[in-house]
Amino acid sequence: MRPINWGIVGLGRIAHKFTQDIRLVEGARLHAVASRSPEKAAAFAEQYQATHHFGSYEELVNCPDLDVVYIATPHAQHLENSHLFLKNKIAVLCEKPLAMNSREVDQVLAFAKSHDTYLMEAMWTRFFPTTKESIALVKSGVIGEVKTMRADFGFHKAWDPSDRVLKKELGGGGILDIGIYPLFLSLLFFGKPKEVIAKSTKHRSGVDDSTAITLIYEDEKMASLYCSVSTLTPVEATVYGTKGSLKLHSRFHQPKTLSYGNYYEEIITKTTPYLGNGYLFEIEAVGNDLRSGKKENDLMTHQMSRDLMELLDQVRKAARVTYPQDAI
Ligand SMILES: NC(=O)c1ccc[n+]([C@@H]2O[C@H](COP(=O)([O-])OP(=O)(O)OC[C@H]3O[C@@H](n4cnc5c(N)ncnc54)[C@H](OP(=O)(O)O)[C@@H]3O)[C@@H](O)[C@H]2O)c1
Repeated sequence: MRPINWGIVGLGRIAHKFTQDIRLVEGARLHAVASRSPEKAAAFAEQYQATHHFGSYEELVNCPDLDVVYIATPHAQHLENSHLFLKNKIAVLCEKPLAMNSREVDQVLAFAKSHDTYLMEAMWTRFFPTTKESIALVKSGVIGEVKTMRADFGFHKAWDPSDRVLKKELGGGGILDIGIYPLFLSLLFFGKPKEVIAKSTKHRSGVDDSTAITLIYEDEKMASLYCSVSTLTPVEATVYGTKGSLKLHSRFHQPKTLSYGNYYEEIITKTTPYLGNGYLFEIEAVGNDLRSGKKENDLMTHQMSRDLMELLDQVRKAARVTYPQDAI
């Protein structure tokens, strides 16, 4: 198996977790890391035994034998950082959300196409065996025809004005950061809604805090979703059908356990454990894509990234949550 050499861009919280999982994947290697700070890059490289480290993202572009970069910077930087590597024909796995709005998503997808280079949004939820099984079960009709779903994602963010989640200029706020997960699930099970209703409260930092979302579909279907950066919620998702329901247990965006069954009958519960932090599945998927010369993943497609951002835009519009990037 051809080894895939990974580079990491932006050495914050998620970069640590992702890097820990690279070593769990056969044929994946931590090759290089890049930070805006040379000291941070050197320390990170030492901690995880990276071959190369760089004190700027630009320097990583010229790193020899680099196959793919994982972009783990704040949302507002995703477009610029992805472009840097795509224009140099280096494959990109970019953290969610792929960019700030649909205009930016169209731009970055166009970059990938014009440079004929691999790009995937790191929507890791799509690659868990439990997610795949839940989709197959719902498709098999085990809960009947899908009618409604409920999903929530809330955490309690302690007051820290320097945290990217609370900084408007970095794309902070609940909708883009975690609302994206229930919305992603709604696309998987229901497709695009015909109507989007959403209301947000504002955090004292200025970003959107808690948001209640109702999505209405053709054929009298509905999704009821919630996200919050100030309240810890169960982080569960349940899809209800005409015969029964299926639940993705907490935390549903990195699922291990699902339960399903007919209403009034015994519920079946299945757990599929995994190693590490759960990033191994997307790391493996990207490696397989690169080995087979693909420019796009079959599950987390470019169209899915477009649809997801279109939905995020609709929710933000309804909830009146804007960013400077929207006006450009
Ligand atoms: N898939 C998941 O499970 C998951 C979980 C959490 C977050 N995420 C996504 O990953 C991205 C990063 O999240 P995080 O929680 O890891 O953030 P974080 O801890 O704040 O780290 C972000 C890193 O980006 C770099 N950076 C570049 N420009 C920056 C700027 N202007 N201000 C601050 N940092 C800047 C910094 O690295 P250097 O100083 O090294 O350059 C920083 O450490 C977000 O887009 C988020 O949506 C995904």
